[in-house]
Amino acid sequence: MRTQVVIVGAGPAGTLLSLLLGDAGIDNVVLERQSRDYVLSRVRAGVLESGTVEILRRAGVGERMDREGHVHDTVNIAWRGSELLSVDTVDRVGKRMMAYGQTAIQEDLYAALDDRGRPPVFEAADVELNGLTTDRPWVTYTGPDGSTERIDCDHICGCDGFHGVARQSIPAEERTEYGKEYPFGWLGILSETPPLPILLYANHTDGFALCSMRTPMLSRYYVQCPLTDAVEDWPDDRFWSELLGRLPPSQAERIVTGPSIEKSNAPLRSFVAEPMRYGNLFLAGDAAHIVPPTGAKGLNLAVSDVHYLSQALIERFGSGSTTALDDYGPLALRRVWGAVRFSWWLTSLLHRFPDQTPFDQRAQEQELTYLSSSPAAQTALAEQYVGLPL
Ligand code: FAD
Ligand code: PHB
Repeated sequence: MRTQVVIVGAGPAGTLLSLLLGDAGIDNVVLERQSRDYVLSRVRAGVLESGTVEILRRAGVGERMDREGHVHDTVNIAWRGSELLSVDTVDRVGKRMMAYGQTAIQEDLYAALDDRGRPPVFEAADVELNGLTTDRPWVTYTGPDGSTERIDCDHICGCDGFHGVARQSIPAEERTEYGKEYPFGWLGILSETPPLPILLYANHTDGFALCSMRTPMLSRYYVQCPLTDAVEDWPDDRFWSELLGRLPPSQAERIVTGPSIEKSNAPLRSFVAEPMRYGNLFLAGDAAHIVPPTGAKGLNLAVSDVHYLSQALIERFGSGSTTALDDYGPLALRRVWGAVRFSWWLTSLLHRFPDQTPFDQRAQEQELTYLSSSPAAQTALAEQYVGLPL
């Protein structure tokens, strides 16, 4: 079989790229290792930058998001027990965020591809990338029925997340990896209870906490936990009591508790692989970079990578010019490093580190004091939280 672009991974990056390329008349095939149900069962991102919202609308998958998404005008940080800092992003930088879950975006993207008769190939095992530095790369895989398949193409896009095969297909001596692991994780739950109407981050002596939402009857909450903790260590009662204890009393009393319907833990890490291109292989999204979720940037970066990459491929197949493809990696990385730095900074500001000294503690408090009193600092936070320009 032959196509123009093979896309590895049917997460948000791979499926959005497939939609944009297909709608521009570029033939492509998406290969996904998991089943559709499995991908849709992963609970992940919840906050979209204004640029992401625009890109999804332009791709034709904004209708349900605009109907069901919840607009946030403020980022709120609770600290020192009862202090609450509220940064109005519309006042500061004229932009707002949208609360709309990654699961819903993924459903919308799959539905759009189904409507066009171009669904991904699910349960594609043993994906291997070949001939990456030639003009005729090809991909082999084992189909869901056990058959061995080969697809020849012009370009391969690695949208297969942090644990995928694409980045690993670049020889080690051709890539540089920058990484940082944080000494804690996030324990997250979904509960069918009305969420707080605001997005609330908390810095507390017992550790970080976050209150977020999915729908008017679906809340998403997180607490910082040791990396060694398992989900079983966090029965619902313990989770709610830790969460409420880390929030200011005025907010804690507004939280409606209930049974969790999903519970998961995730380690926090920053990671960037450079370059984002090797021959005719292009990386996008978590395949190339990971940020700790504190800044709500991972999905947004996947979407901005895909925005740049789709435009470059459309130019390549349209006019034949490869200038934009050559510029793709450096252009994407400028934005990636902006988000990596911001996510690292917000993570450092809001979490308790196991080796935090009294000096570190006072410095963290001073930064929150400064943020609370300085319109300039709040503008810098708002500008980065709503998303640096594309
Ligand atoms: P993925 O979603 O990882 O998709 C990659 C796909 O490739 C997967 O479906 C995988 O099964 C498939 N794959 C892997 N290997 C292979 C292979 N060998 N062959 C074929 N297919 C393969 N981001 C935000 O912007 N805002 C947030 O609020 C936010 N909150 C988060 C909260 C949590 C708890 C977590 C864990 C993440 C959060 N993120 C957030 C990050 C966001 O979820 C990711 O950045 C996003 O999923 C990246 O999309 P992607 O398509 O690049 O990768
Ligand atoms: C979420 O809703 O899952 C969420 C919100 C904000 C973050 C991270 C995750 O920073």
